[in-house]
Amino acid sequence: MEFSIKALSPETARTGCVVLGVFGAQGAAARELTAPARRVDQASKGALRAALGDLGTRPGATLLLRRLPGVAAERVLLVALGESREFGERAYRDAVRAAAGRLRELGAKDAALFLADVKVGERALSWNLRQAVLGLREAFYRFEELKSQKKAPAPSLAHVVLPLGATVELRRALAEATATADGTALARTLGNLPPNICTPSRLAEEARKLARQYKLGLEVLERRDMEKLGMGALLAVARASREPPKLIVLRYAGGPKSRKPVVLVGKGITFDTGGISLKPAAEMDEMKYDMSGAGSVLGTLRALAAMKAPVNVVGIVPTCENMPGGAATRPGDIVTTLSGQTVEVLNTDAEGRLILCDALTYAERFNPDAVVDVATLTGACVIALGHVATGLFANDQALADDIRAAAEDAWDRVWQMPLWEEYQEQLRSNFADFANIGGRPAGSITAACYLSRFTRKLRWAHLDIAGTAWKGGREKGSTGRPVPLLVRFLLRRAAAR
Ligand code: BES
Ligand code: MN
Ligand code: ZN
Repeated sequence: MEFSIKALSPETARTGCVVLGVFGAQGAAARELTAPARRVDQASKGALRAALGDLGTRPGATLLLRRLPGVAAERVLLVALGESREFGERAYRDAVRAAAGRLRELGAKDAALFLADVKVGERALSWNLRQAVLGLREAFYRFEELKSQKKAPAPSLAHVVLPLGATVELRRALAEATATADGTALARTLGNLPPNICTPSRLAEEARKLARQYKLGLEVLERRDMEKLGMGALLAVARASREPPKLIVLRYAGGPKSRKPVVLVGKGITFDTGGISLKPAAEMDEMKYDMSGAGSVLGTLRALAAMKAPVNVVGIVPTCENMPGGAATRPGDIVTTLSGQTVEVLNTDAEGRLILCDALTYAERFNPDAVVDVATLTGACVIALGHVATGLFANDQALADDIRAAAEDAWDRVWQMPLWEEYQEQLRSNFADFANIGGRPAGSITAACYLSRFTRKLRWAHLDIAGTAWKGGREKGSTGRPVPLLVRFLLRRAAAR
């Protein structure tokens, strides 16, 4: 899908489909046309207004009109935007997605999206543009490589014109958005790939591909390297699997040499059975998404490298499989982490924090400006925040505030949770320095508390994406979140210096 920014008039644009927004309630008189819709109405001598009775009012309702008199484009797609006084980010995004869905059904080859210049609150046009590109790319994403019966060639929208003035700012926003969409799609596909294909070795292969394509630095630590270093926690999780564990380090240096890197750490459990603390059978297949943190780190690096962003970033991906078996870690085993601290593994299903803690300690050697880990860490986070907001935890409020602002900007939202001392007590152990679980209450907080014991020397934030990295139900699949947030966060950080 190609995008271009080009000032166009809606009535003379030669394109497969002109997409126009319409505000307001039922009844032609109560409808409020956006400026381009008004122009099309005038050119067609009122044919657009005459058809409005058939357009629903809830944001996202659509109506397709063909061959309007006086209009060059073959089709005009009207999209309801809801009441103008209630119009905001949510309605804009719904409208873009609704338009995308309709364009997919139509099989249109090209379109001009006049929705792009509808004012959304205080947002700049660059925000509209980024959301339009990401929304369209999201809606046209397909994961069908493993179906034996290929459907008819996916109707693809080859070209979309964003009818805006081509300023430097908007051109830059477009480059950012397309690279972010590519990075999000990579994360999504890695998440959707089944666990027999998306193994730790496959993730290392993907990192190698990125390193080759974008000239990134790459180092992959193998089991024996981890043994030499003393990554006892990561190794404890990997023990019972036939798949060898990896610790991937991918480096992108697009910023000034003097600037310390941001380190991103992504949980890469390619399948989480729970280990000896075995998970119930129902929906266990969904634990293939347990490498979504890893996928989002790779996707973010891809996006940054593709857009040649002026940032220095190190991606660290600890990856392995969490399996039961004769060699598996037992509940009650005590392991020594890379930090030297000992951990009583009371539940082998709390494995994410075990692989992350060694990766976080390893992150210290890059002398980072900040470290952000990304992990499908706890079911408790899904209970707390559902599939809407990512859980945010941080030991530095300025860093948390930066992430919150970036998340609002990207509309890839987070909600901050407390990391208070009081919760730390739940990790008490009679036999080791502390335990890897803190009981049922505040499960996502005690998981973050566990990680905080490995980040005392770091400015650190933790994103629990257990709810946001994938969707269940009919639309089951990976989302690619939080790639848009991470890219925005890093770009804003570079711009602020
Ligand atoms: N990968 C899971 C968390 C998860 C659960 C992600 C559901 C997405 C959906 C994690 O490794 C896990 O099993 N966590 C346990 C921790 C518990 C044993 C303290 C959980 O959340 O139940
Ligand atoms: Mn688990
Ligand atoms: Zn897990």
